[in-house]
Amino acid sequence: MINYRDKYEEMCEHYRKLGVSKNDLPKLEMIKTPEQIEGIREAGRINALVLDEVAKNIKAGMTTDDINTIVDKKTRELGGIPAPLNYEGFPKSVCTSINDAVCHGIPDNTVLKDGDIINVDCTTIVNGYYGDASRMFIIGKTDETAEKLVKVTKESVDMCLELIKPYSRLRDIGFYIEKYCKQNGFTVVHEVGGHGVGVDFHEDPFVYHYGKRGTGMVLFPGMVFTIEPMVNEGSRYIFLDASNNWTIYTDDAGRSAQWEYTLLMTEEGLEILSY
Ligand code: MF3
Ligand code: CO
Ligand code: CO
Repeated sequence: MINYRDKYEEMCEHYRKLGVSKNDLPKLEMIKTPEQIEGIREAGRINALVLDEVAKNIKAGMTTDDINTIVDKKTRELGGIPAPLNYEGFPKSVCTSINDAVCHGIPDNTVLKDGDIINVDCTTIVNGYYGDASRMFIIGKTDETAEKLVKVTKESVDMCLELIKPYSRLRDIGFYIEKYCKQNGFTVVHEVGGHGVGVDFHEDPFVYHYGKRGTGMVLFPGMVFTIEPMVNEGSRYIFLDASNNWTIYTDDAGRSAQWEYTLLMTEEGLEILSY
């Protein structure tokens, strides 16, 4: 198995000589060891199976609490722990964000209805390692704009799998995502982003979903991080629900979509560890 840390010093030296500042080079801890990668791969595999279980069962008439039950049960059945539960006081095992909820929706007795779009964001701990992914679900039939919003958001992430290579710059990710979403008439949330993941829930670096191409950290093989853009049909601006201090909504009540993958940078490019 490849130990990506073997080439770390040499590559740092190479990029320093090219004038890349120290701040734009990853810390050694960001390069996962072979053991860590195997652990995160397994957590990601189980994380995706939990989302598959949601996909199989989600439908109009069920509550977001029902989704929470599915996620909690399936995760434990597969030998995992739902990371959101009690994370910084979060009260449930999954985030469920409907329509104008951007992220961090808390499962409750809200009933899913025809035409809703919902993001289900699962994070799974297996043997101490983390997999983090989210998908959109369309309940019954929705309108064309929402359908397009869900589709374009996913395409913006898939596009990164094609365009982002080892030693690409971090801000290229955001550049491609925001450009593509804007071209399609949508806006991208700036305040919440992706993150390093695997040994902990949220690690450095912060993964921007906007920015200037050719800037930011050099993405070394062995880095594991999420890409998880939140894309709005209207304004990109958001507010925090003061009643729970978790859920984020769009300012203008327009709908928002999000897809999240956990990704490993290899010598060949990005490999999906969870989706
Ligand atoms: N899963 C979210 C993410 O992608 C984080 C949720 S934190 C929680 O980073 F506490 F709300 F679960
Ligand atoms: Co995440
Ligand atoms: Co997540």
